Amino acid sequence: MNKNLRKAIIAGNWKMNKNRAEAKTLIEELKPLVANAGCEVVICVPFTNLETALAATEGSNIKVGAENCHFAKSGAYTGEISADMLAEMGVEYVVIGHSERRQYFGETDTTVNLRTKAALEAGLKVILCVGEMLEDRENNITEELVALQTKIALKDVTKEQLKNVIIAYEPVWAIGTGKTATAQQANEVCSLIRATIEKVYDKEAADAMTIQYGGSMNAANAEELVAQPDVDGGLIGGASLKAEDFSIIVKAATNG
Ligand code: 13P
Repeated sequence: MNKNLRKAIIAGNWKMNKNRAEAKTLIEELKPLVANAGCEVVICVPFTNLETALAATEGSNIKVGAENCHFAKSGAYTGEISADMLAEMGVEYVVIGHSERRQYFGETDTTVNLRTKAALEAGLKVILCVGEMLEDRENNITEELVALQTKIALKDVTKEQLKNVIIAYEPVWAIGTGKTATAQQANEVCSLIRATIEKVYDKEAADAMTIQYGGSMNAANAEELVAQPDVDGGLIGGASLKAEDFSIIVKAATNG
């Protein structure tokens, strides 16, 4: 319940959207709207927009993230991007283990753990995604599943490294569906993730951990979600593609 011990973060996950010109336009629109944000503001963009985003956000309060990275430092991994490559560009954040990576690209808890460790070793901040499918919720195994995903993803991550980890709870059934978890459901699972962190690390680490909610968060429902005691911001898909909507969510987190 110690919200003041941790940083609220609103992060946009642009997914596979926006070409370079569109990216620049969106960032220019966003900059003045979030200039006075009382929370951390991050945009996670496609690899092809990283350079544009880094240049356009220079001198502003908007931080830039990538949407994935590989676990190897370099080598024969055609089409992949290493954590070191991102860090060298000046990228600060990276999303790891998004459910779309797990569903469509064969990511497992084990590769999520490898990628998390590689990103942390490269000095990146990790937005680690966990969350259950609708079937898991219906089978009443959300609690066990999310605890398991969290534990495996963080295997061999030190307490010091954990300071650079943000966890995003994203129920898969709420992503891009317009079906948001209720504020109570979101808080329940975020609180459970915090309890898992306390078990694996300690209370200090759990109290300091930023835990976001993600899944159809928008300008209309953000305020209630981020006001929950264990919800420290959000990971926003669709609504992060519109400057006005994203800035309203940032404002909600500022107030929450
Ligand atoms: P939507 O906000 O579009 O539901 O996407 C959520 C998400 O997957 C963020 O990572």
